Amino acid sequence: AALACERKPQEEQRPGTSAQESAERSDGGAAGAAQPGTPPQDSNTVLIGEVGSLTGSEATFGISTRNGIDLALKQENANGGVDGKKVVVRVYDDQGKPEEAANAATRLISQDRVLLILGEVASTNSLAMAAKAQPAQVPMITPSSTNTRVTEVGDYIFRVCFIDPFQGFAMAKFATENLKSKTAAVLKDQKSDYSLGLADVFTKKFTEFGGKILGTEAYAKGDTDFRAQLTAIKRLRPGVLYVPGYYTDVGLIARQARELGVKSTLLGGDGWDSDKLFELGGSAVDGSYFTNHYSPQDPSPRVQRFIQEYKAEFGSIPDSLAALGYDAARVAIEGMRKAKELTGPAVRDALAQTKDFPGVAGNITLDEKRNAVKPAVVLKVTGGKTEFVASVAP
Ligand code: PHE
Repeated sequence: AALACERKPQEEQRPGTSAQESAERSDGGAAGAAQPGTPPQDSNTVLIGEVGSLTGSEATFGISTRNGIDLALKQENANGGVDGKKVVVRVYDDQGKPEEAANAATRLISQDRVLLILGEVASTNSLAMAAKAQPAQVPMITPSSTNTRVTEVGDYIFRVCFIDPFQGFAMAKFATENLKSKTAAVLKDQKSDYSLGLADVFTKKFTEFGGKILGTEAYAKGDTDFRAQLTAIKRLRPGVLYVPGYYTDVGLIARQARELGVKSTLLGGDGWDSDKLFELGGSAVDGSYFTNHYSPQDPSPRVQRFIQEYKAEFGSIPDSLAALGYDAARVAIEGMRKAKELTGPAVRDALAQTKDFPGVAGNITLDEKRNAVKPAVVLKVTGGKTEFVASVAP
């Protein structure tokens, strides 16, 4: 069955040359005449955009998100789409790079003239996109970017996940109350807004809860040798080592930490969420904990039904990116259905009203800052899998 979406990575996509695109252009009529934020009207389809890291060191983020979005569109299109129009998504691969994410957003806005944009995962990339979407009055929903500043770019930028001041609090609380740790060190990625933000919050909250931060070290995304930082951390003998990074770097960090004899319990955030973490980190990540948006072990029928449907479609258990991608697409469709008309400003207004939306990664009510307020889960890594250990309420 054909999914109602295009899956062309940016390299292959030549705007204006694909059959689908020219069909959209001719159906849409006045190409070039409309203003950004006012997509060409097409009687059969509504075009939205998606930007993600389909390749590169965070590839699983983009792929899982895309799968979640695809599933939501397939179901919602079968369910009438938006006023009988089929929702079609144009997807661009940004290779995990902020410059590419910005370019892709610009292309979606100016050339494809999408009604709305879904993405990105990494906060740094979402910030780059938001700077394009906001002035163009094109609503953007990031499924999973947690850095506070993302939605502060403006009133067209939304997210369906919690924010890092809460995520960092949740782990600091878990470390002091559940793990009873008294001392910590932090290893952060200085190229990632996400990592820097989480490192700050964790440091502040862990200290507030009575713990002591013994030291903070930094690396830059893409580094492969973390031995100097880890040697410095080893000397401090912290009870826990907080590493708010993405899975590729974290896998390597965990291995090198254990090789050097770092004994501290490793802790992290949602950026750890990828099956690749277990491949890269092997037994070095066993016994670590990270905060996340959802657990596949959640027994709620809503979550279990989603897992079954996702598995039937893609053959794997959805991670939190897939769950949040699914939620973001469904919130987007609900907003388009409720909007007074299919324009950027009208869809924005409808999205801002999102309340008690039944997401698979928790109920979604958007606050006045366009952020969702929801619980976080703490997962433990054991034998190449995660295990639910706690839920932390906001
Ligand atoms: N929260 C991360 C960020 O803002 C992205 C992420 C979300 C990664 C969920 C994995 C899982 O950069």
